[in-house]
Amino acid sequence: MTIPQYILDDIRNRVNLAGYIGRYVKLAKRGHEHSGLCPFHNEKTPSFTVSEPKGFYHCFGCGAHGDIIAFAMNHQKLAFPEAVEQLAQEAGVEIPKPTPEDQQREDTNARLVAANATAARWFTSQLESDSGKAARDYLAKRGITSETTQRFGLGYAPTDRDQLTNYLQQEGFTQEELIASGLCGEADAGEPALYDRFRDRLMFPIRDRRGRPSAFGGRALGEAKAKYLNSSETPIFKKGATLYNLDQAQKTGRQHEEVIAVEGYMDVIALTQAGFDQVVAPLGTALTETQIAMLWQIAPEPILCFDGDTAGRRAATRAVQRALPGLYAGHSLKIATLPPDHDPDSLVQSQGNEALRSLIESAQPLTDWLWQALVEPSDYSTPERAADFRRAVNDQIQEIRDPGVRSLYQRDYNGRLAKIFEMQFPSRSGPTSNRPRRNGKHGKKPTVGPSPQGPVSSAAPTLERLVLLVLVNHPALLTTCHEALAAITFPGKEAKELQSALLETASAEEAMQSETLANEVERRGLASFVERLKSDRLLKVHSFAEEAKETEIAGHGIQHLFDRLRTLRSLSDDLEEAKQLLASHPTDENWRRFRALTEELRRVSALPAG
Ligand code: UTP
Ligand code: MN
Repeated sequence: MTIPQYILDDIRNRVNLAGYIGRYVKLAKRGHEHSGLCPFHNEKTPSFTVSEPKGFYHCFGCGAHGDIIAFAMNHQKLAFPEAVEQLAQEAGVEIPKPTPEDQQREDTNARLVAANATAARWFTSQLESDSGKAARDYLAKRGITSETTQRFGLGYAPTDRDQLTNYLQQEGFTQEELIASGLCGEADAGEPALYDRFRDRLMFPIRDRRGRPSAFGGRALGEAKAKYLNSSETPIFKKGATLYNLDQAQKTGRQHEEVIAVEGYMDVIALTQAGFDQVVAPLGTALTETQIAMLWQIAPEPILCFDGDTAGRRAATRAVQRALPGLYAGHSLKIATLPPDHDPDSLVQSQGNEALRSLIESAQPLTDWLWQALVEPSDYSTPERAADFRRAVNDQIQEIRDPGVRSLYQRDYNGRLAKIFEMQFPSRSGPTSNRPRRNGKHGKKPTVGPSPQGPVSSAAPTLERLVLLVLVNHPALLTTCHEALAAITFPGKEAKELQSALLETASAEEAMQSETLANEVERRGLASFVERLKSDRLLKVHSFAEEAKETEIAGHGIQHLFDRLRTLRSLSDDLEEAKQLLASHPTDENWRRFRALTEELRRVSALPAG
């Protein structure tokens, strides 16, 4: 019978948790909690705690966890109704007598379970029989061992129209029960009344939370329209509230606080065979809110590990959308992204457990995954588009019902928005002048490569002007320096002209250099620019550039300048690339790289010139 929720709440409120557990475990009070030696595993130092305010016990050693009813069940080895009855008596809570309808529903459900259990045994025997050869071969081909076959109770539904129906009728199930069980369909007039729903299929029994067979999934072996078929929904089978393999996965899952949700039966089976016990799957539909809540009962951050194809990505997106409203403190999702063309099954089969393990370990937290999903298809290249993007981000955040989680998402995403908007619309002048402009659907991909304009930092123009000054004062250096000079992109029209004048001079004969340079400066109208260079206070601090200094000292100095400029140029190219990458993939890692390069560039630029 189903016991009304308020009775359970009454029991939890009225029976003192520490008092009750204290009868079986010696507990010491520590703050709000009690602790003692765990009754569920052997230990010498206490890792078992009982929290009165939270209403549960928890063992940090073995993971045992639950409320008072769970303790009565697990420690006293009572079934749920017995545990409730015992505790209710103790608390003086009266359990209402089951109504005749309750009783009848119980009886019907028990018959449905019995029909499914009988069918499961029969499918298994068919798999072992002659008619099951093709199915056995198929399992072998997929690398499923006989141990795994047994563990999951796999079976085979033969091709005949009504073999199962006949068998179940022999076993005493009525037509009505068979229809209600979801295993048999009603035929059209003129044919025998019932037919088997599953024919020529590999059969996967679906068990409820307590391990009772409540439905089946069947995979087509021959030609069939649907690759997979499920039992129809029944009073004991609700697709959206069932997870395949939950009964097996929950135990290990709770102990390790880990549960992996995959897409299909075969994924669950292959992963279990590879040693992952805590794996479940929905039944061909996107994860429902109910199923996500079920996952959270096992582990605080279930890991979605869906196929690497578009359908898998879509399934992850839908699951995330369904998870958002129900997020609460400590509870989230992680998303492991499989390589395209792989499902978890094919990945372990081809690359082994380690590949899957490392994928699981590197699963992305929901907040990062969602951010990426928001940013990737978006365009924030103009203020209007950026505002629209910000609105879309906020709409997502508003989906979260829990105010605490919602406000922290708001903070997190505000920070991320600020970062990319600063990139896009820099508030200071300076190194970000070549900002990435476009991203996503409206835009061209940003071109990657060195920036066309030279200024890499506010200090750089000084270095470049210093190069010009040294060469104006010591044209003799041009013979050895003209290549390095040609490689520099000078800021400003006049500086560029002077560079040309100097290169022109470099090709003149040595004796003619001073004269050639003077002519070129004159011809190109650069006299006043050269004057300004010579009187620039900032350049004056670098005495090696002075005309009076020996050529050797000046030569030494200019080599340093070229080195510095080369370093800055390659840093600024790297930075430009990092910037483009950050604009198209604003991940944390790309952000860190961008920041590191900006810092490095600032550091190198700040060194005294020369
Ligand atoms: P998949 O096609 O990925 O199946 O569908 P699978 O479990 O990996 O099986 P193999 O490897 O192809 O044999 C994932 C899940 O979607 C549901 C089933 O629950 C399946 O396990 N499904 C798929 C259906 O319900 N109907 C279908 O026709 C196909
Ligand atoms: Mn698959």
